[in-house]
Amino acid sequence: MINIESLVSLMQADKNLIPWAEILPEQMKKIFLKNPHGDLPRWNKTIDTMIRQTPSSTDFNSDAVRIGNADDITQAQRDELISQLKEFMPWRKGPFELFGIHIDTEWRSDWKWNRIKDHIKSLAGKTVLDVGCSNGYHAWRMYGAGAKMVIGIDPTMIFVMQHQVMKKYTGDRPVYVLPLGIDDVPQKLKAFDTVFSMGVLYHRRDPLEHLKTLHDALKKGGELILETLVIEGGNEEVLMPKDRYAMMRNVHNIPSCDMLEQWLVQEKFKNIRFIDITATTIEEQHTTEWMEFQSLQDFLDPKDNTKTIEGYPAPVRAIVVAEK
Ligand SMILES: C[S@@+](CC[C@H](N)C(=O)[O-])C[C@H]1O[C@@H](n2cnc3c(N)ncnc32)[C@H](O)[C@@H]1O
Repeated sequence: MINIESLVSLMQADKNLIPWAEILPEQMKKIFLKNPHGDLPRWNKTIDTMIRQTPSSTDFNSDAVRIGNADDITQAQRDELISQLKEFMPWRKGPFELFGIHIDTEWRSDWKWNRIKDHIKSLAGKTVLDVGCSNGYHAWRMYGAGAKMVIGIDPTMIFVMQHQVMKKYTGDRPVYVLPLGIDDVPQKLKAFDTVFSMGVLYHRRDPLEHLKTLHDALKKGGELILETLVIEGGNEEVLMPKDRYAMMRNVHNIPSCDMLEQWLVQEKFKNIRFIDITATTIEEQHTTEWMEFQSLQDFLDPKDNTKTIEGYPAPVRAIVVAEK
């Protein structure tokens, strides 16, 4: 089980989050006790045996989320920690720097954050939901930008455990990654000042329903930051890959920007602004020592990098900001 005591207390102090506080312990029991992931005992054991050390400092505003310094631990402790951290591979989102150990992740997630941070309402004092937060890299950056509380949800257990590794050293800060999907968030919470959904929309079979759920989670006047794959095209164009897209099996829809805007209007979002459109490069997404599987380079047509291996347009991502 992950420790949710402080989260439940914070939720109970916020009237809009009370409905979630009431069901969260049962949600966690169901995931951790009724049908637990087979690797959980091993992951928990590794976290328990990792060195106990208070970091001399932390920095959640630097490109690599930094927890502790190299001088906080000995060389032998560092070697052991590296091999323990490698038990949580693949490290996809980051980078992190833990006691001077640089976790060079598949994605330069800091590049995405840098595209966003100056275009959104201040996060200072805000209650934030990050849907599909992976290991919480961006959640730490949101906290670094002043958020009062960040609740991240991601159903992939290894990413939740990567966050637990960092939590071992960060103390009880109001940043949480819960092993839940968007459908586990109680309906119509109207609890969050800011909701992020980055890299999730194209995985949803019903994109409009996803946008509606995000709208329902926001307070009136709250802000949505949505990042998703897009194609070039007019206001009725959506790519629905037949089978795989860039080797991913679960990509269900890639709209044009105009289509995406229409979807947002349809789900009652206002003040819709595209703040960035960028083609993903092999510098931003690549194989590393911490993520040894194939990556973007292997998913593109070797003769024409503007196409995926299946012949679709290569990945281009848009970031849209909108208000409720
Ligand atoms: C492409 S990654 C994006 C991670 C991060 N938001 C980012 O932008 O770097 C998509 C994440 O969404 C998660 N995910 C998949 N289905 C989900 C769902 N139903 N609800 C919430 N997250 C989901 C996956 O486990 C994965 O970590």
